[in-house]
Formats: sequence, C-alpha cells, structure tokens
Amino acid sequence: MRHQPIAANPCGLSSASEALALGHLVAFPTETVYGLGADALNQKAVARIFAAKQRPADHPLILHVADLVKAKKLCAHWPSAADVLAKQFWPGPMTLILKKSDVVPLAVTGGQQTVGIRIPAHPVALGLLNDFAKLGSGVIAAPSANRFGAVSPTRAKDVIASLGDRLGDHDLVLDGGDCQVGLESTIVDLSGETVRILRPGGIEKDKITHALLPLGLRVGSGSSGQETPLIENTPRVSGSLASHYAPSTPITLLNSGDIREKILLYQETHPAERIACLLMEGQSDLPQTVLQKILSTDASDYAHGLYAALNDLDREGLDRIFIQCPPRGGLWEAIHDRLGRAAHGENQNGT
Ligand code: TXA
Ligand code: MG
Repeated sequence: MRHQPIAANPCGLSSASEALALGHLVAFPTETVYGLGADALNQKAVARIFAAKQRPADHPLILHVADLVKAKKLCAHWPSAADVLAKQFWPGPMTLILKKSDVVPLAVTGGQQTVGIRIPAHPVALGLLNDFAKLGSGVIAAPSANRFGAVSPTRAKDVIASLGDRLGDHDLVLDGGDCQVGLESTIVDLSGETVRILRPGGIEKDKITHALLPLGLRVGSGSSGQETPLIENTPRVSGSLASHYAPSTPITLLNSGDIREKILLYQETHPAERIACLLMEGQSDLPQTVLQKILSTDASDYAHGLYAALNDLDREGLDRIFIQCPPRGGLWEAIHDRLGRAAHGENQNGT
C-alpha cells in the first residue's frame, strides 16, 4: 500500500489537475462513489485506467464534465430528452448515454458509437474538472475507483485498499471525505428509439419517468406499445454483469423474518466459521459471536452507508456475510440491484 491520499484543498486540486494534464491518474470523490480519472482525450492515460482496474477493454467509461457546453461537444446529437433530464438532474447522480461525436476516442467507449456523460455534483469533482479545463481537455474519463468487479469505494481509504498497489508514483488519490449518495449514478440510455434505464442508481426511475412525461416519452416503452423492462441487462454495461459489485467474502441475503433462525442454524452446521451480519435498525438480538453492522431504515442513509460497510466487512477476513433484505420501491430498487449482484458473485464462485 504505497499510496497515501492527499487533501482535496486548492493545493491538492491544482496538483491533481496538473497530474491529469501530464497523463497520470487521479482518483477523486464524486457524490456517488470515488472515480479513477484520466484525461479522456489522452488515449495512453485512458489505457492506464483499464490496466489499473484490470477492466476488459470493451467496457466503456463514463466521461465527466463541468458544464453543458462541454457535454454537448461530446455528442453527435443532443435530443430534447437530454435537455430535459440534464436541466433537472445535473449536476447530479445521472449518466446519459448518447451518440458520440468524433471528439470522443473509441478507446473510452469500448469501441461503441455511444458515450456515457455525467456532470457530477460533488464540489471536489467540479473543482477538479474546472481546474483541469484550464490546463487540458476538461473531460475526465472515470470508472469507479476499484478493481474490476469489486465493490465501489465511497471513501479514499477504500480506493487505496483496492487500487493502492496498482497506481504509479505520479498518480494521486484526492481525499474529499465520504461520498454522499453512496451508489453509482443512474444510467439512462437516450441513444436508441426508446428511453431505457441501463443501471438503477442515485436517481429513481419514477423521477426520470416523470421528467420525460411532458415530452410524451415513456421510459422503457418499446415499439410494440408493451412496456419493456426498465432495468435492462446488456453485456456492454459492465455494471450489469451478474457478479459485479461483489466483495470477496461470500454473501447470503436473508429475509427479515428468518434472520435469527437462519444464523443459528448456519452456526450449528459451520461452527468454525467467522460470520457477520449487515442488518437494519431494530433487528432482534443475535449471538454475540456474530459481528454486526447496522444500517439505517431510511433508503438514502442506507445507500450512503452500504459500500463502506461492505468494504469494512470485506477486510475482516470473514467466512460469510449475511445481509438482511431491505424493503422495495424507490431508491431501494437500486440497493436491491447491488445486493443481488453482491450475493450472486459468491454463487458464481461455487461457494
Ligand atoms: O456514479 C458513477 O457512475 C461512477 C462515478 C465515478 O461517476 N462511475 C461509475 O463508472 O460507476 P463505472 O465504469 O464503474 O460504471 C459505468 C457504467 C459501466 O457499467 C459501463 O459499462 C456503463 O457505465 N457505460 C459507460 N458508457 C456506456 C455506453 N456508451 N453504453 C452503455 N453503457 C455504458
Ligand atoms: Mg464500477
């Protein structure tokens, strides 16, 4: 773990924007999760993101910009739906997929003709983008700052734990505290005939649907008039891989009613195992041998704390983490999406 984060003060931001301009990597906070950034228009720098994360080259990166003028330059076509959504939700936790312009190298889009764009709301991210616009392109390609397939980082220390030994001497990690939202952005695909949500996230489906109503657009409506599933799984969205967002510790999801019973049974049959439970407030008592972390019953607070809790537990060297299934609806849907993937990772490993 060679790397130490640097404070995201004006001096840190200016070092970070210089590093970006020189083709180095900079991990930085956004309101969703920490991103691993590089100058999006510098192909060598972008290649280093893929190498550091060990991410397959056909998994496209999201481009971050500070304003609409820059966002529009990255697109071949800017539909009215983009105008409406950008006005309502940017800066914020929403990524738009649009047809790319020639400015965008195919290396960042995984060879696709579409590009993912976002204006983040975090002051450090915006400060960095603005500083970098004075020295360079002002467009930062940034996936979440974790090893490919692992849980996204919401604190600088999680970035260091996941990627510290894969960063070079001139790469930087900016410490801007905890990310407020704690889940990745909602990805809305505006590049096709219909509007589709490719990844549920910080902005709920209902809000996107409501915003697009005046345009007569239905989110997820297909040409047959039948509503297509809102949460699409396409192989090109790496976050849609079933095992994405998985900690290395096996995960089992439990329904609220069963928790105590299931854990006692598990302990009986696996007496040597060290286990933990990720619960919501108000859960009845469990044996003291079980490590417990409690998350809020409020969806925003839960989302804010989820990845930090998973990353903490993952570093405990446990045999298994049990997670209480939260309720459904609204932001909980994005949380369910991530929990399902976290649990699926262990099934795929056959444990
Ligand atoms: O909140 C976020 O979105 C964070 C912060 C750092 O902005 N970023 C993030 O990036 O989660 P990443 O790379 O971990 O996930 C981005 C997702 C991937 O699943 C990628 O495949 C998808 O966005 N994506 C990017 N460009 C795309 C495109 N042109 N078409 C379809 N999916 C795209
Ligand atoms: Mg990611």
